[in-house]
Amino acid sequence: MQFSGRVLISCLITNKELKKKKQEGLLFLEEKKFFSTIILPLGKGFMLVLGIESTCDETAAALVVDGKKILSQSIASQIDLHDIYGGVVPELACRRHIDAILPVIKDCLNQANQLVTDIDLIAVANGPGLIGALLIGLHAAKGLAFALNKPLVGVNHIEAHLYASLMSTHKEIVFPCLGVVLSGGHTALLLIKELGHYELIGQTVDDAIGEAFDKVAKLLSLPYPGGPKIEELAKQGDPYRFKLKAGQVKGRPFDFSFSGLKTAVMYTAKSAERDNNPHFCVDLSASFQKTAFEDIYNKTVAAALHYGCQTAIFGGGVTNNRYLRSLFSTSSLECHFPHFDLTLDNAAMIAGLGYHTYLKRGPSDLLNLEAQTRIPLS
Ligand code: KG4
Ligand code: ZN
Repeated sequence: MQFSGRVLISCLITNKELKKKKQEGLLFLEEKKFFSTIILPLGKGFMLVLGIESTCDETAAALVVDGKKILSQSIASQIDLHDIYGGVVPELACRRHIDAILPVIKDCLNQANQLVTDIDLIAVANGPGLIGALLIGLHAAKGLAFALNKPLVGVNHIEAHLYASLMSTHKEIVFPCLGVVLSGGHTALLLIKELGHYELIGQTVDDAIGEAFDKVAKLLSLPYPGGPKIEELAKQGDPYRFKLKAGQVKGRPFDFSFSGLKTAVMYTAKSAERDNNPHFCVDLSASFQKTAFEDIYNKTVAAALHYGCQTAIFGGGVTNNRYLRSLFSTSSLECHFPHFDLTLDNAAMIAGLGYHTYLKRGPSDLLNLEAQTRIPLS
C-alpha cells in the first residue's frame, strides 16, 4: 500500500472512534470486536502535536496524535549529573537542557519518521518548575513555532501529570472525579469537574511526597532519586517495626504534612540501634513508606466520600510505586494510574494535554507566553 505525505500505522481505536473515522473516509486495516487497528493518513482531520518538557531534570520531546496516540518519545535524563550532589542543582540542570533539547526533538521526529513541517501544534510545559530549566524548553518551542509558523500552546506540567492517567485508559472517566498529584514537587488533592476545571481541596503544607522520599533516602545514604530505592528496600522490610506518624493539619482534613515524619526518620536513623542491625534501614524504609502512603490513602478516600467522587485519577513520579498502587487497589474507588512510562516527567503528557487545551482555548500568545515557577490549578 502506498501513501504520500504523513503516515501513521497501526493505531488502536475504539469502535465509537472507528465509526467516526469511517464517516470521514479513512483507511482501515483490521476490525475487531472492541478495538480496531487502522492506518491513518495524517493531515486529514488528525492533529500531530510535538510536546516539549524541561521543567526539572529531564529534557523530553514527544509526538502525539489527537491527544492520545503516542508516536514517539525521547527523554534525556539528568540523574547521573545530580546524583553526585544528592539532588537537583538548578544551574547544572539548565545547562544540560541546552545541550539536550534539540537532540531530543530530532530523535522523536526520526523515530516516528516525521518531518518537522508535519507538526500541527507545539505544546510546551511552561510551569511549574525551575525557572532556568523552563526557559530552555519554552524558548525552543517558541523558536520552532515562529520559524514553522505553527500554533503554540502552554501547558501546566502538574495538570499534564494527571492527564497521563487519561492517556493510559480506554475507559470513559466519570466527572466529577478526584485528582491525586504525587510528584517530587507537589502533593495535592483536586476536585476535577471536567478537563481544565479544578478545585484545590488539599495540598502539602511542607514537603511534597516525592521530596520526602528523596530526603529520607538521603538520610539513609541512598542515591538520588530516593523514591525507587526506598521502594526496593521496603520490599524486604518489616513495615510495623517503627511506629511513625504522618502530620495532620488542624481544621484542614485533606491537607498533608510530611516534614515531621521525615524528622522522625532522621532521629530514628541516628539511634545507636542502627549500627548493629543489618535490617535497620530496610525496616525503616518499609515503615516510612507504609506510614506516608496510608496517610495519602486515608485522605484520598475521605475526600472522595466527602465530594461524592467514585473515581480517582493519579499523576506524578511517585505513582511509579507498586506498593502505593496495591494499597489503592483495595479501595472501592475506581483508580486510574498512568502507564509506567508516563509516570515521571515526560513530553507525551504535555503533547496530550496540549491538544485538548488548544481545542478548548486556542493557541497561546507566542510573544507573551511566560515561564512560571508556580501556576495555581484552580
Ligand atoms: O513527577 P516527577 O517526575 O517530578 C516532579 O514533577 O516533581 O517525580 C519525581 C519524584 C521523585 O521525588 C522520586 O523520588 C519520586 O518521584 N519517585 C518515587 C518512585 N519513583 C519516583 N517515589 C516513590 N516510589 C517510587 N517508585
Ligand atoms: Zn513532574
